[in-house]
Formats: sequence, structure tokens, C-alpha cells
Amino acid sequence: MDDFHIRQGEWYCEQVPVSRLAKTYGTPLYVYSQNTILSHFFKIMHAFAAANPLICYSVKANSNLSILRLLAAQGAGLDIVSQGELIRGLEAGVTPERIVYAGVGKTETEIAAALRAGILMFNVESEPEARLLNQVAQRLRKTARVALRINPDVDAKTHQYITTGKKESKFGLSIPLAMGLFRAIRRMRHLKAVGVHMHIGSQITSSTPYIQAIQRLRKVVEDLRRAGFDIAYFNLGGGLGIIYNEERPQTADAFAQAVLPLITPLQCRLILEPGRFIVGNAGILITQVQYVKRGHVKSFAVVDAGMNDLIRPSLYNAYHQIVPVQGRPGRNTVLTDVVGPICESGDFLGHDRHLPKLNSGDLLAVRSAGAYGMAMASNYNSRVRAAEVMVSGARVRLIRRRETYADLLAPEKEAALK
Ligand code: LLP
Repeated sequence: MDDFHIRQGEWYCEQVPVSRLAKTYGTPLYVYSQNTILSHFFKIMHAFAAANPLICYSVKANSNLSILRLLAAQGAGLDIVSQGELIRGLEAGVTPERIVYAGVGKTETEIAAALRAGILMFNVESEPEARLLNQVAQRLRKTARVALRINPDVDAKTHQYITTGKKESKFGLSIPLAMGLFRAIRRMRHLKAVGVHMHIGSQITSSTPYIQAIQRLRKVVEDLRRAGFDIAYFNLGGGLGIIYNEERPQTADAFAQAVLPLITPLQCRLILEPGRFIVGNAGILITQVQYVKRGHVKSFAVVDAGMNDLIRPSLYNAYHQIVPVQGRPGRNTVLTDVVGPICESGDFLGHDRHLPKLNSGDLLAVRSAGAYGMAMASNYNSRVRAAEVMVSGARVRLIRRRETYADLLAPEKEAALK
């Protein structure tokens, strides 16, 4: 599953003891295993090899330039949702013809930037967006390749904040609306409809909702072809679930075996947009215990990482395993809440954990934090964002320095000078 393991009572990332990283780079610290990132990318590549898919890594899961460069070097494309992600992708050397652009709120400026860059296609989510895209493309004398994001109205059986394929959701177009918009696009001279797109949610552990959705989209593709559209791309989106605790998600192989027989007969180029599956288990957040408050019913380990560093527990009540970086897990555990320094009751990393008796200075690792960890970090409580390091074998590289207080103040100080 990943390259984090215990050797003689000490957690390692690949060949490097995690405590050494904390000593060198300080805490809180995000640590990634390069081998884990690559092995997950290859798992999807191999599972879908028969279909020769374009794997567009979903930048929002972890947008660090070094991770984008690593994946680009393996031929990955990108799924982006903003101009910032486009800029990151181009900076990392990703070929524009491998970039697909989704999102319900693309602005005129963002659309123009993506058209100028020459991305593969826009995953369009509404009629007004299609009209704006057509206008901007006309102005720039370009033709925009378009897939419509179809909302198949299936329940992905995941957290309600990250389910996206039900009819109540803001994402995509219902099948009848999409069919109408495909017809309207025929009259938009600067758009060319080339595909269908779906993304039904995130952290999905079973193939069943995908199968339901694909069956609905298959019919759309067949109807469109009968109507004379040249539909060349089928984009399945992302959403593959990973193990945080006791989940039993489908493997990439089982997923491919379940969905490929439905898609291959369409003879479309398959696009996948995995994010969490590639980076989720490849990262941990290391934090140091500042204080231990012993209460009547439980202990509180107050650590130096907070909801600004990893918001998933606060936002989704998400579970991340928390393990002591050093010391063999003893039999005597203490019921402990691992909490951050932020002034909110929702600022916790884990509730009611059975951890060995902790002391100030102990290091803890919050596991499976590679996806939507650093990517969702903020400066709340005027805290500077953590550093990130990449481990490959025995080699360690700082891939994002810790923010400084000068970084924190710069936008306001610069504004005051104007
Ligand atoms: N494609 C599209 C259009 C998406 O909106 C997303 C994620 C993905 C692909 C990648 O999904 P993945 O393979 O990573 O599941 N912050 C939440 C997850 C939000 C996902 C948003 N969209 C979390 O921490 O669980």
C-alpha cells in the first residue's frame, strides 16, 4: 500500500527515519514517498493498459510542482480547475495537449489562458459557460475542444460534501440538458464537441456507482453518434477510494476489469482523473506534541499541526491513522484526543485514539495525508504553512520550504506601499 514502515520501533519513509526528517526540517512537516506515488500511478497505468488511457492526475489533490514534474516525466496529463493549476502544470513541464480543464466557474481570463496554452479540452459544465467559451475562442481565433460534464444522477455512497454525481449537485448537466447543449454547440462555430465527461465523487470504494453512471453515458455517446457527433473521448473522472482505516476499496485492477468491458466497445480514448489514489497514501504529516493535558476521561495531546495544516478531520470528520514516530506500541494505551493549537473546538486531528502515554516533544505521524492535506492548508490563526519533503530511497529533497512570517505579511505590506 505504501513505503512507510516500522523498523526496530522507528517509522521510516523508504530508507529514511522519519525522526531525522523532523529534526532537519522541523514540524509540522509533510513527507512524501516518491516510490509510493509512482507505484500508484503505475497501478492505474497497468490496470488500464489495454485501453491505452490518458491519465490526467487531478492537481487539486496535491499541487506541489515536484509531484507534477514526477508524474509528467511518466507521461501523465493533468486535470485542472483553475488558472493557478494551469500555471503550475505548465511550469512543471506538462504537455498542454494532455491537460483537461473542469470546474463550474471558469472565468473569462482563465478560459483565455487555457485556450492560449492549447489545452486538450474543456470539460464544460453549463450552457452559459459554453457560450462564453465560444466567444473567447472566437476573439482568439481558436477552436475549443469540448467535453460536456454529464451528471448521471447516481449515488456514489461517499461523504455528502464529496459526492458530485447526484441531480441535486451543482456539477455537470443532466442527460437531457447535455443533449440539448450538444445540439446547441453545433451552432457555436468556435467549439468542437469531442467527448463526454463524468466525475461522480471522491473516496468511492466500490465500482457499482461507476457502472451505473457509465451505462447512462454509454447511451449518450451512442445517441450522439447517431446524431452525427464525432465523440472521441470518454472521461471517467477520478474518485477511486483508498485505505485510511478499515475501508476495503476496489483495487485498480478490479476497477479496470469492471469498467473496461463497458467502455472499450465505444472505441473512445479513455481519460482518467485520479488524484487521491495516486498521492493519498504517499504522504504523512509529522507533528510534535507540545503539551499533554491529562483530563478525567481522556488525555489531550496538543500538537503543533492544526486544522490549518490538515482540515480533513474538521471538515469531513475524516479518519487518519495517527502513530507515534518512535517507540514500540506498548500494551498500555491512553485514550487520547490529538488536537491542534487553533482556537476552535473543531481543530482536531483525531478523537479517542488509543495511544501510548505521550510526552512533550514526542513526534506523531498522521498517515494517508498526501491528498487534500497540504493542498487545503491555510494561514488561519496567522500560522505559516508547513514544509514538504520528498523521499526517494535514502535521498531527501525539500520540495517546499516552510513559509516565513515575511511571506505571511507580504501581500498586506505591499498593498500599504501602493
Ligand atoms: N476530477 C474532478 C472533476 C474532480 O472534481 C476531482 C475531485 C477529481 C477528478 C479527483 O478526485 P479523486 O480521485 O482525488 O477522488 N477535499 C476532499 C476531496 C474533494 C474532491 C474534489 N474533486 C477530501 O479531502 O476528501
